[in-house]
Amino acid sequence: MSLTLAVDEELELHRLQHQHTETLFELVDRNRDYLERWLPFPPLTKSSQDIADFIKKSNHAWGQREGLVCLILWHQQAVGIISFNKIMSNLSKTEIGYWLDQSQQGQGIMTRACQRMIHFAFEELQLSKVEIRAARENRASRAVCERLGCQLEGIITQSEKLHGQLLDHAIYACHRDRSLDVG
Ligand SMILES: CC(C)(COP(=O)(O)OP(=O)(O)OC[C@H]1O[C@@H](n2cnc3c(N)ncnc32)[C@H](O)[C@@H]1OP(=O)(O)O)[C@@H](O)C(=O)NCCC(=O)NCCS
Repeated sequence: MSLTLAVDEELELHRLQHQHTETLFELVDRNRDYLERWLPFPPLTKSSQDIADFIKKSNHAWGQREGLVCLILWHQQAVGIISFNKIMSNLSKTEIGYWLDQSQQGQGIMTRACQRMIHFAFEELQLSKVEIRAARENRASRAVCERLGCQLEGIITQSEKLHGQLLDHAIYACHRDRSLDVG
């Protein structure tokens, strides 16, 4: 079933579905070098079949309410992905992941997309915490967390191995019962 989260007149989030396969592959393909800097998946995404497999898995995860992947549409154009990587109902929390077309940075798209997803997590999924993890050196991603008003919970050293390098993660948290303008 489709799911659309409207943000404003410029921005919408659509749950990722099979019909988005080619669009998403083209978006990944033209952003490879830039996305590889901080994300593991581009080298593993060699063809649209890899995207189709990813969409199938994400459909299954949403069916189980264990995850949700949305395509970000900016003026009706696909510009990125935002997701709940894991919905942990037992812990009443989820973790957001995201990326944006390189050429669409600097317009507040991701900050607004995150606000909408956090609102959905709190109001629709009834979760009480949203986490965002960014590599310690990923300034652009950490700036999104800080713009959202999330609290820095700490730094986890040696949290990920990316392209042979160990990375530390900064963990940010947004809580439903603490003041956050996500409405
Ligand atoms: C991380 C990433 C999504 C950040 O993108 P971004 O464009 O910097 O973030 P936003 O879309 O929230 O835009 C914020 C920028 O728009 C500006 N802006 C304009 N209008 C705005 C608005 N209405 N609201 C908020 N910011 C606005 C902000 O000032 C900021 O610009 P600045 O960085 O020059 O200060 C992007 O760099 C990316 O995809 N990187 C590669 C993948 C990645 O690292 N993913 C995260 C892994 S943890």
